[in-house]
Amino acid sequence: PSMQNISGRTQLERELQQFLHIPHVIVTSGNSDAQPWVKKEMSRACVDEMIQTLCPEDVVAVAGGTTLATLAESVTPHPNLKQVTFVPARGGLGENVDLQSNTISAALARSANAHYRLLHVPDQVSDLAYESLTQEPGIQELLELIRSPRMVLHSVGDAYTMATRRNADEEKLDRLKNLNAVAESFGYYFDGKGNVVQKEKTVGLQLDELGERQKVVTIAGGASKADAIIAYMTYRPSDLLITDEGAAEAIQSFA
Ligand code: G3H
Repeated sequence: PSMQNISGRTQLERELQQFLHIPHVIVTSGNSDAQPWVKKEMSRACVDEMIQTLCPEDVVAVAGGTTLATLAESVTPHPNLKQVTFVPARGGLGENVDLQSNTISAALARSANAHYRLLHVPDQVSDLAYESLTQEPGIQELLELIRSPRMVLHSVGDAYTMATRRNADEEKLDRLKNLNAVAESFGYYFDGKGNVVQKEKTVGLQLDELGERQKVVTIAGGASKADAIIAYMTYRPSDLLITDEGAAEAIQSFA
C-alpha cells in the first residue's frame, strides 16, 4: 500500500474511534463484500492483538461465522497462545456446522496448537430438556469459563442476512423486520438504536455480564455491515474494532 493509503486509513481509524466511542480501531485496506482476501487482512491484525494480549491459561470465547472461520485459518502457533483455551461464546444458533462457534473454537485451537472445550447443547430442544441439560455439572463448569473469559472474539452481521442464513421462517423474518432489527451478533438482534430486540434461545455468554476484565474484539468488514456495526457499537462499544475500508467509509458517511 502507498503512504497515501496508510495515512488515509489512519485518519479513518481516528474518526471511527470518535464516532463509535471505541478506544482502538484498526482499518485494513479493501472491502470484504467484494474481496475475500480482506478477511485475511483483518484476521492478521486480530492475530497480532491476540499475541500481544493473551497469556498462558487465558480463556478466549469465540463466536461463529465466516469472518471467525477465516481467523481460525490465519492463526499459527505462538508461545503466548499455547496454553490458551478456546471456548464457544454461545450454543448452537442454527448455523451450518462449519460456521458454528464450537467448530471455530476447535479450529482455532488446532491452528494455534492450543486447547479447546466444546459446548454440547443442541439448537432445538424443549424447555424441559434445556433446563436439565444446563444443570449438568460439566456444562455448568464450562458456562462459568465462557462467562468470564479474558478475551471475546466475534463478528457482527446484518440482521436479515444472518436470520436468512440460519433458515429463519417467514414469520421470524417479519418479526425481525417489525422490530427494526439491523444487526446480529452472538444470537442477539439489535435495532438501529442499539437496543436488543430479540435473543436466540441458547446458553453461554451473556452480553450484559461482560466487564472490565474482558477484552472484546469485534472483527467485521464490508460496506454492507456499516449499519450493523454502528448499531452494535451503540449497544456496547468494543475495546477494539478491526474493520476494512469498505465498512469504515460507509460508517463515516453516517458521522
Ligand atoms: O453474528 C454475526 C455473524 O456471525 C457474522 O457472520 O462473519 O459470516 O459475516 P459473518
